[in-house]
Amino acid sequence: MHICVIGTGYVGLVTGACFAEFGVQVACVDNVVSKISMLQEGKLPIHEPGLHELVTKNLREGRLTFTTDITKAMEQSLVIFIAVGTPARADGATDLRYIDEVADSIGRCMRDYKVVATKSTVPVGTAKRIKERIQAAQSEPIAFSVVSNPEFLREGAAIEDFMRPNRVVIGGEDAHALAIMKELYSPLYLIETPVVITDIVTAEMIKYAANAFLAMKISFINAVASICESVGANVQQVCDGIGTDSRIGPRFLNPGIGYGGSCFPKDLMAFRAVAKESGYDFRLLDEVIRINEDQRQRFLKKVRSVLWTLRGKRLGVLGLAFKGGTDDIRESPAILLVQELLREGCQICAHDPAAMDRAKEVLHASVEYTAGPYEAATGADALLILTEWEEFAALDLGRLRKLLKYPIVIDGRNLYDPAIMSAHGFSYYSVGRPASLTEDVAAGIRPHKREHS
Ligand code: UGA
Repeated sequence: MHICVIGTGYVGLVTGACFAEFGVQVACVDNVVSKISMLQEGKLPIHEPGLHELVTKNLREGRLTFTTDITKAMEQSLVIFIAVGTPARADGATDLRYIDEVADSIGRCMRDYKVVATKSTVPVGTAKRIKERIQAAQSEPIAFSVVSNPEFLREGAAIEDFMRPNRVVIGGEDAHALAIMKELYSPLYLIETPVVITDIVTAEMIKYAANAFLAMKISFINAVASICESVGANVQQVCDGIGTDSRIGPRFLNPGIGYGGSCFPKDLMAFRAVAKESGYDFRLLDEVIRINEDQRQRFLKKVRSVLWTLRGKRLGVLGLAFKGGTDDIRESPAILLVQELLREGCQICAHDPAAMDRAKEVLHASVEYTAGPYEAATGADALLILTEWEEFAALDLGRLRKLLKYPIVIDGRNLYDPAIMSAHGFSYYSVGRPASLTEDVAAGIRPHKREHS
């Protein structure tokens, strides 16, 4: 089968490369010429584990092509995926400008029957809008079907999520289009992936409900973590205690500095707007968003209380991406925190394995970027862990302690065991767990003394 994918962002590129890997003939389309030229040479504009290998392999084997010519890409394609950006408007609702432009182009270029599938996260009712725009743009009536096929890819694990999904959701109105979509995903039958078939609005709803529920889980545990800090309980053990209940499940219960990224913050606002438009005041979502923002402020408060005063303090910062495994800094809580710390007069020395180039575009020029985590810690008054990169969870603690000016680690991602940190001579503060302090700090002597070994 031939397909084309319009939009070469995270979703479009992963979708295109993975379908090519399934053996499908894929044309990826974008109107940014420089991006397409880069991709034609096998160079990726984003960091996503495993994607480069997949793109170069399928380019070489001729199953994957990149073009700016939508007419040519559509010619042979039976299925057209729309994977363009759906940014938020100032009022939280979704800006459908790019979706509209693509629908108009599809209508103008259509010569025979096509299945038009939305991959981008779009408000409930968008498929209907796409259908109407395509019809309006056609020079003569040509039959086509619109389906909703939401993606559930996590950045940093997108290939795995595509190749081994928990489920595939396809919302459609006619059996022919649904059969074509099922055929496209047929390699996943080998691993017995459930395919959930629904009508179109239900599929669109599933995407919002899934992201809102996951964000709610994170805000829930962050709220529990705040109470744990007040009463002296350990949120990690609370997670173990509740996560083993199969009705709750252990995943997405990691407390931290709040969720970020290009999806949860935007999708929650959009879902809220969709609900409001439908006449339902979804106040639960307001609270999820409020707790998330509060979580950052609570972390800042913690840093302030540990360091007494922030002005002039040199802070080592580990992590700028919105989560580990990606170079994406969109709505990154780490970036927002660094901006706040800079405003309060801190000197920031930061390291991120993938996101430093992107961070440089948005952060104040005074931030110092280092080649590794140890360099970021050197001479710092405290070390802040802001992104859950795996490599930050396996640092040489003895080396780290010698490099820091004061042995203070404030961990926004709970990457370390407090007992191990105190055994290594750190005053260690994390989220929702009792702080483990060095003896002198525990005895109330401040500031923290440098531990020489
Ligand atoms: C999310 C969903 O997980 C995907 O299923 C969905 O397809 C995607 O949005 C989307 O709509 O496109 P993503 O934004 O890539 O994926 O990242 P997540 O792994 O979900 O993490 C989101 C944020 O939540 C990160 O800032 C992460 O640090 C935070 N998080 C995640 C926590 O604070 N605690 C957790 O337990 C899990």
